Amino acid sequence: MRYFLVAYMILPITVVLADLLPVQFKAPTAAHFRDIVRNDTFDFGCRPIAHPTDDGQFTLHALLTEEQIAHVTKEYASMPELSVHRQLVKRAATAPIGTGDRFKSGTVAPIGLGTKASGTTISSIMNVAEISSAVLGLVNTYSVTSITLPYKTFNGATQSAAYVGAGSDKSKYHLYLSAGVHARERGGPDQLIYWISDLLAANSSGSGLSYGKKTYTNAQVKSVLSAGIVFFPLVNPDGVTYDQSSGSLWRKNRNTKSGSSGSSVGVDINRNFDFLWNFRKYFDSSESPASTSPSSETFYGTAAASESETKNMVSVYDSFPKIRWFMDIHSAAGDLLYSWGDDDDQSTTTTMNFLNAAYDGKRGVVDDSVYKEYIPSTDATNVKNVAAKTIAAMKAVGGRSYTTMQAVGLYPTSGASDDYAFSRYWAKSGVNKVYGYTMEFGYSTNFYPTLTEFNENILDTNAGFMDWALAAISVGLE
Ligand SMILES: *[C@@H]1O[C@H](CO)[C@@H](O)[C@H](O)[C@H]1NC(C)=O
Ligand SMILES: *[C@@H]1O[C@H](CO)[C@@H](O)[C@H](O)[C@H]1NC(C)=O
Ligand SMILES: [Zn+2]
Repeated sequence: MRYFLVAYMILPITVVLADLLPVQFKAPTAAHFRDIVRNDTFDFGCRPIAHPTDDGQFTLHALLTEEQIAHVTKEYASMPELSVHRQLVKRAATAPIGTGDRFKSGTVAPIGLGTKASGTTISSIMNVAEISSAVLGLVNTYSVTSITLPYKTFNGATQSAAYVGAGSDKSKYHLYLSAGVHARERGGPDQLIYWISDLLAANSSGSGLSYGKKTYTNAQVKSVLSAGIVFFPLVNPDGVTYDQSSGSLWRKNRNTKSGSSGSSVGVDINRNFDFLWNFRKYFDSSESPASTSPSSETFYGTAAASESETKNMVSVYDSFPKIRWFMDIHSAAGDLLYSWGDDDDQSTTTTMNFLNAAYDGKRGVVDDSVYKEYIPSTDATNVKNVAAKTIAAMKAVGGRSYTTMQAVGLYPTSGASDDYAFSRYWAKSGVNKVYGYTMEFGYSTNFYPTLTEFNENILDTNAGFMDWALAAISVGLE
C-alpha cells in the first residue's frame, strides 16, 4: 500500500526512450526461427511465439534496434525464405496513464466494465499509486482482505496481495491470479482489479455480468467467488513505476546488483523461479531458455528465486495451501499457454521428468525424442480443456480471436511462473497440485495498447477469467 511513496522518490533524472522497433520475421516453418531465438540480445516480447498465418507461413515478432535489424538482414541474406519486415502500421496514440487517484485513497471502489452499460469505457491505465488505492477501495467496500507479503522490493516497496470469496479460512482458496510481472505489459493489473470489482458489484446487487456478447448469471458470479480468489495485481511495482515514467518498454525489475546502468539493470522475474533455473546445467547447450547476461531482457538473476517479487509470489502458496489453479497475466500475443514450458509434453514415461538428473543437459530441444517433459494424461486433459474454454469465452466477446497452445511452443523457457506452479507438486513434499497458465492478452509486441485496445483487452480477459474459473470449478478445486 505504501510503496509508491518510496518508488516515486528514486526515479532517475534522465530517462532513456526506447529505440526499439517492432519487426516481424516470416518463414515457411517455425523451425526457421530456431537460431534467431537463441540470440539472447534480441527482445522477442513476453516470450518468442511463432504464429501460423493464413497464407501458410509463420511469423515471429520482435523488438529490435536499427543495428540489430541491419545485422539480421545481413545474416539471413543467404536464406531468402526467411524475411524481416518492419511493422509500418501507423497507430493511434497509446492509452494514457492516469494522473492523480481516481479511487481517492481507497474511499472510492473501482467499478469494472462488466457491470457498466455496454459501450462504457475506462479512460486511462492505472498508475502505480492507483493500483494500491483501487485494492484499498475494494477492501473498504466489500469483504476483501489484503495481506502484506514478506519481502520488500529492491526499491523498498511493500507488496500486498488480497483475497476474497471464501471467508477467513485460507485453505478454502483455490484460484490465484497475478499481473504486472513484466513492467511494460500495460493493462494486466487493471484487468484483474476490474474483474474482481465486477464480481463483487454483481454479487452485491444480485445481477450478472456482460462483456461484449458474453454474459454471465448471478449464480455464476457467486460460484466463482465461492471458489476463493487470491489476487496479486502488481508483482513488479519498481519496474512499472520506471516504465510509466520513461515509456522505455521496460520489462524487468530494477535490481542493480548485477548492473547499474541502461539495460544491465534488473532481473526478469519470469525467468527467476525455482524451476530448472540453472538452465546451463539442465538444458541442451544449444538452447537459450533464459540468459546469464544482465543486459538481456531474460536475465535470470543471481540464484533461483533471488528476487523479492519472485519470493512474494511463492509465499502466496504457503499462505493459501489449497490453491489449485494459477494464472499469470502477461501480454502481448493473443494466446493462453498451458504446461509445460521447458519441452514438449509426454504422458508415457514417468521417469523422464524435470527432477531426473539423468536428463540434465538434454532438455529444451522441441520436436526431438531425447527429452520430453512428463505430464500425467489426466492433467494434460484438464489443462487443455480449461484453456480451450477460456479462449472460447474471449473470442465470444466479439472483438478478435485467440489461440491456446502448450507454453513451450517452439522455444523452451526456464524459471517461469507457470511451470514453477505446476512443478511444486513433484518438487516438494506435501504441497497441493497447482495447474499453471500464462495469459498473453493483446496483439503481438503491442505492449502499450491504444485506449480502444486497452478497453477491449479488459472485456476479453475478464470473460476469459470468468470461463477459466468456471471451467476450473467444473474440473475440480480440491
Ligand atoms: C546476436 O546478435 C548480435 C547483433 O545484434 C550479434 O552481434 C551477435 O553476434 C549475435 N549473437 C550470436 C550468439 O549469434
Ligand atoms: C455476496 O453477497 C452476499 C449477499 O448480498 C453477501 O452476504 C456476501 O458477503 C457477498 N460476498 C462477498 C464475497 O462480498
Ligand atoms: Zn510477460
